[in-house]
Amino acid sequence: MLHHQPEALGEIAELLSGLDLFVVSTTSATEAVRRIRQNPPHVIIAGHRPPGLDGVGFLEATIAHAPEALRIVLVNTPDEAVELDYRPAHAGTIMRFVARPSERSRLVALVAEGIKLLGLVEEQRALTRRTAIEYERLQRRGTLLDVVVKERTKELEESYEKLKAANRQALFGLAEAIEAKDPYTKGHCGRVAAYCLVLAREAGYPDDGLETLEFGAFLHDIGKIGIRDSVLLKPGPLDDNEWIHMREHPVKGYEIAKSIEMLKPIMSAVRNHHERWDGSGYPDKLKGHDIPLAARLVAIADAYDAMATERPYKAALPLEECEKILRKCAGNMYDPDLIEIFIQRKVGALYREDYEGLDPGYETAG
Ligand SMILES: [Fe+2]
Repeated sequence: MLHHQPEALGEIAELLSGLDLFVVSTTSATEAVRRIRQNPPHVIIAGHRPPGLDGVGFLEATIAHAPEALRIVLVNTPDEAVELDYRPAHAGTIMRFVARPSERSRLVALVAEGIKLLGLVEEQRALTRRTAIEYERLQRRGTLLDVVVKERTKELEESYEKLKAANRQALFGLAEAIEAKDPYTKGHCGRVAAYCLVLAREAGYPDDGLETLEFGAFLHDIGKIGIRDSVLLKPGPLDDNEWIHMREHPVKGYEIAKSIEMLKPIMSAVRNHHERWDGSGYPDKLKGHDIPLAARLVAIADAYDAMATERPYKAALPLEECEKILRKCAGNMYDPDLIEIFIQRKVGALYREDYEGLDPGYETAG
């Protein structure tokens, strides 16, 4: 409270004595500013014209130190209070104008209201602070939970991947075991898978299907597990009955694949790799694009590898010779578009040391 008349300060202090306040009074503006800076009050009251400083100017200067305090300017008449209150510069400020002699009760009410208001502001601020602390605590807990969940998920994923890899390994092992029965077909499944992958990439096969395709190509002859050794390993040509038995291997493989969850996506490669483009293949006599793409790819890779490797009854054919035969069979046995890509992109050169043409630039397949 700042006023140049000590008696006015005494009078106001008495007026406010019922409000249970700590009142600081001074006749010096410098002292008032010092006290305000030291301990920002809820209400600042100033006479309109303290010496050397006008009341409004003084109160404006205190905003920096006590931004939320209610500021009251004491003037002499209600008319003067109204006139100052209506000045555009005072619009929207927390400045009230009260006539000291005649508006005593209004002054008391204003001070009481200001204190109550500031109390509410402080309460709200404390609540906001508590909420922020609680929120942060919850967030920390949430983050902690997230970390635990992520760790568990990662562990589960790792276990699943290990299990998947073990299953794949077991199935690859099975295919290799069938292959190993006949030393002349050694490495055949791996090469078929590699040709298939390269041809599939060249033919625009979707990237996310390549892993399954490779798996299917590797295991396409898994049904041979159900073919009698006397037929499977017969050194000479097969008779009619033996051929009938041999041709059961795609369906036998399909029966195995459909009962094993991991093999379900490759069922078509297993069942339909002996279908022919013109519909004369087996077991379903599918024709053209009705033959699943994976099976069409395997058919070409399988035939090419058989031609390109040495067997007991025949020598390995040179690349150009193999390509000639494939081209001849395009449109009746094999998908002609895929054969064209196979030849154009020199897919058959993948494993050939004798090939001296242009390097097709394929990645080395294992
Ligand atoms: Fe086969």
